[in-house]
Amino acid sequence: MEKLYEGKAKILYPEGENLRVYFKDEATAFNAQKRGLIPGKGVVNNKVSSALFRYLQAHGIKTHFIRELSDREMLVKRVEIVPLEVILRYRAAGSFAKRYGVEEGTPLRAPLVEFSLKSDALGDPLICENAILALGLAEERELSEIRATTLKVGELLRAFFAERGLDLWDFKLEFGRHGGEILLADEISPDTMRLRKNGEPLDKDRFRRDLGGVEEAYQEVLKRVLGE
Ligand code: C5P
Repeated sequence: MEKLYEGKAKILYPEGENLRVYFKDEATAFNAQKRGLIPGKGVVNNKVSSALFRYLQAHGIKTHFIRELSDREMLVKRVEIVPLEVILRYRAAGSFAKRYGVEEGTPLRAPLVEFSLKSDALGDPLICENAILALGLAEERELSEIRATTLKVGELLRAFFAERGLDLWDFKLEFGRHGGEILLADEISPDTMRLRKNGEPLDKDRFRRDLGGVEEAYQEVLKRVLGE
């Protein structure tokens, strides 16, 4: 089957008016300067994303998710991606901790929404809402919906993971336009979240920082998400 697009972690295939997303085991970090393989990651990310999209949809969030097709594939609606990475942070970590010189894990006074321009060539630079509007990357009403939905998704995911003994520190979302609506798109997986168990990373930080036990951490997230 003809590929529509191949990214760092996923391949998109046309499936009628929809898309089939295939999740790969390839992993990249630091704007693809670091590359590797996490065996089984594609299965975990597909199953975790599918479970989280189902949970969010059941709580009123509009998403691109239609259904899980196989261990590594899901069927989604075709959207026009808004070229933003929307990050929600509860604790300082990663690029935020580095930028402001704060210790990893410092709780933030309130959940913080950050936007980055989705551009591999530019290294996904931070972008402010005024610049998003000035560049016409999103309309004002779209941006306020994206912000509000991100905060609601954050509350839902924090509660979901807390029930499973995991602390959600931050995560990244992407949104798309479909039939006049803004839908939550892309994936929500250990590649795109920071999840801690008693302070121990169970996410892509294990790969980024060469902590070892990457596969095991991804499997543990899957088990907890599925409630096994
Ligand atoms: O690296 P940084 O601290 O900015 O990442 C914040 C959150 O967004 C992390 O959970 C990270 O995994 C996620 N992220 C992502 N894709 C990117 C950048 C960050 O999923 N390109």
